[in-house]
Amino acid sequence: MSDTLTVTDNRTGKSYELPINDGAIRAMDLRQIKTSEEDFGLLSYDPAYKNTASCQSRITYIDGEKGILRYRGYPIEQLAEEASYLEVAQLLLNGELPSPAENAVFVDQVTRHTFVHENLKKLMEGFRYDANPMSMLISSVAALSTFYPEAGDVDDAALRKDQVIRLIAKIPTLAAYAYRHTQGLPIVYPTNDLSYSGNFLSMIFRMSERDYKPNPILERAFDVLFILHADHEQNCSASAMRSVGSSRVDPYSSLAAAAAALYGPLHGGANAAVLYMLEKIGDVKNVPKFLEGVKRKEERLMGFGHRVYRNYDPRAKIIKELAHQVFEITGRNPKLEIAMELERIALEEDYFVERKLYPNVDFYSGLIYQAMRFPTDFFPVLFAIGRTVGWLAQWEEMLLDKEQNIARPRQLYLGADTRDYVPMSKR
Ligand code: CMC
Repeated sequence: MSDTLTVTDNRTGKSYELPINDGAIRAMDLRQIKTSEEDFGLLSYDPAYKNTASCQSRITYIDGEKGILRYRGYPIEQLAEEASYLEVAQLLLNGELPSPAENAVFVDQVTRHTFVHENLKKLMEGFRYDANPMSMLISSVAALSTFYPEAGDVDDAALRKDQVIRLIAKIPTLAAYAYRHTQGLPIVYPTNDLSYSGNFLSMIFRMSERDYKPNPILERAFDVLFILHADHEQNCSASAMRSVGSSRVDPYSSLAAAAAALYGPLHGGANAAVLYMLEKIGDVKNVPKFLEGVKRKEERLMGFGHRVYRNYDPRAKIIKELAHQVFEITGRNPKLEIAMELERIALEEDYFVERKLYPNVDFYSGLIYQAMRFPTDFFPVLFAIGRTVGWLAQWEEMLLDKEQNIARPRQLYLGADTRDYVPMSKR
């Protein structure tokens, strides 16, 4: 038995033997299948890339049928239980867990790059009071590239590392600036003697305290949330990061594109969409009626379903547990009852069972964010902070992959054939 695929073209009667490697054939191997010398060759057609691997990767493994997620081989459950976010960041970027000495250097570097140029503060001030914070984040990340023109040299490993550190360090600062602006509050500068998550909480919540001390449970909760959101292989935003980065533009511009992809309600915007949905349902007693609307396809059950998972999203399990810990501090979010009832009924109903629709990462995270008093339109920003490291790891892997080139899909042209221009007066 050989690892090949024999294809017979019934248009010509010719057979071709295509190698199979790692469970895939190469789309370029289809090109030799032609009906004549002039024929361009066979293409594969895959709208929304439902069955196309766009790269080889060694970063994140998902088994969607079994509900397994691993970063560089380590189960997400173990990382969420034991590791810090910056440790996971190094794991994703470098492939291995850091030694204590390596970790100390990395934490120090990230901590020393948390400040942003004062002009970025002015940029933020230019937004309206009700500007969407995700749009503010996207714009300000893109603007960062103007401060680091050397970042355009993406072939220089040392320069790449500088930008990676800067982006991981500055994203929480930009996010917090956006939050404080929309709340009409003065910005809080980073505090370098706090942890990554502790500093973020300080930049968000600090008022007049001289010595702000983040609540340790909320601080840990954020580290866990950032870990859970850190990477998820070739999703819409990671693909945007790779695709835009493949033009060899600087990483700030690529990351702004990735964040824009994340913003949509079918991706990272789903955590906010879940809250809007729970508000619309309003009460546990309205859950069955809402689910009837979902089955009639008049509604979509936000926070449910996933392109890859056909099982419970392992991140959702951890977040559900975490929610109970956070509610001990913040008080229970009254919408939890509605969410749990939605989950209970949905997991029993044929519509959801047949389609293997389960809660995903966004189903419970919004309840935690709301209990912490974050406005709903800020939730995708919180997702983006955690995901930044994943985008950067995917970007660098793409750049170092000799097989990669500028991303440029093919199309099947079905439009008009050649025709002559008709002057305006004759139309
Ligand atoms: N509610 C109701 N029906 C659904 C849902 C849902 N949330 N998700 C999928 N379906 C149905 C869909 O209508 C289709 O039914 P049918 O076979 O009768 O046409 C079937 O399930 C297959 O769905 P699909 O749209 O082909 O699946 P997909 O892999 O293209 O979509 C998804 C994945 C995440 C876009 C989709 O499940 C969805 O819209 N979910 C709600 C939004 C959401 O929670 N997104 C967050 C995803 S996880 C985190 C992240 O990526 O940011």
